[in-house]
Amino acid sequence: MPSREIKNGVYSVGAIDWDRRLFDELIPLPDGTTYNSYLIRTNAKTTLVDTVDPTKLDVLLENLASLGIRKIDNVIVNHTEQDHSGSIPAVLKRFPEAMLVTNPKCKEFCISHLHIPEEKFYEVKDGDTLSLGDKTLEFIVAPWVHWPETMLTYLREDKILFPCDLFGSHLASSELYATDEMHVYPAAKRYYAEIMMPFRNIIRKHMARLRNYDIAIIAPSHGPVHNKPSFIMDAYEDWISDDVKNEVLIPYVSMHGSVEKMVKYLIECLVQDKIKVKPFNLTKTDIGELAMSLVDAATIVVASPTVLTGPHPAVVYATYLANVLRPKTRFVSIIGSYGWGGKMPETIQSLIGNLKVEIIPPVIIRGNPRVDDFKALKRLATEILTKHKSVNIM
Ligand code: FEO
Repeated sequence: MPSREIKNGVYSVGAIDWDRRLFDELIPLPDGTTYNSYLIRTNAKTTLVDTVDPTKLDVLLENLASLGIRKIDNVIVNHTEQDHSGSIPAVLKRFPEAMLVTNPKCKEFCISHLHIPEEKFYEVKDGDTLSLGDKTLEFIVAPWVHWPETMLTYLREDKILFPCDLFGSHLASSELYATDEMHVYPAAKRYYAEIMMPFRNIIRKHMARLRNYDIAIIAPSHGPVHNKPSFIMDAYEDWISDDVKNEVLIPYVSMHGSVEKMVKYLIECLVQDKIKVKPFNLTKTDIGELAMSLVDAATIVVASPTVLTGPHPAVVYATYLANVLRPKTRFVSIIGSYGWGGKMPETIQSLIGNLKVEIIPPVIIRGNPRVDDFKALKRLATEILTKHKSVNIM
């Protein structure tokens, strides 16, 4: 994608990766992604804000060449993960005068991850400014969006915030701006769930700081640029809040049909109680869809057969993932079936130590469900209804 001007002297010079389908060898990317890099050209300095994934270095260099860039003075490093920093060594080779401007922690990471010599850095701390001539950068150190070294950069005169991963979305689009909000919203929510949700409480503090800035444009390092910042900031305010929705997620696996019968019956009961239900067959589901649904749901019911003595491995994976993503879920229960014994519910419960949830007593049966087992599932649905009423979401 060619470079595009955002404001006078400020250009998007990054790359679109239409075909990437997996990030960090973990996160599904149904819509591809972008690696956004920005160029700021003033009367005195030329500055690059972040670079691109090394697989797209050629696009970045072509964009810089098309703008006639022969010298870069500063490369702002907001984050060291390689999808943004991985092209820095090659950029320094092409533009040897450039200095890397970043905070001490990010410098440390750049040295360990990219083997960049110490003398190439200009260190900044939280609140520092850097004059570029007729424009000024301000640095906002904001750990844990996404790694501990992350910072945001604010271009004062143009009121542009460059937050790197924060407010991003894995969405390949030829549109520079997030004009199609119906399309951007789910991609941004999925991205929040997978990347940012574990740091919800920290982001809340960063958001409180950002409210003091006059922001006209948010230019993240993935996905479209936000020229209506309230769209993405309001969405984040909702996602990071403690508010949960009247929803039950049921991630499940069924080997011989018993668990599936239990899940189907529980869904019927919950729907009758006017509770929204989202079942996820873990042998088929896109794990990103599950992550996205974790953002709001009040309750998770994990449903598993017993494999040897414990849960099905796909259930272990999903439960582990939910635990590390730390959703704001309030209630968890477990349902499932066993053949001759085991500790399936105990094992699942041991995997969710990060979740600040109330455990609703599990419904664990032997073999195929009988009448009394369905009655127990009905009681579970009623208990979930009562819990949802207790937190005022009904
Ligand atoms: Fe887009 Fe944490 O890197």
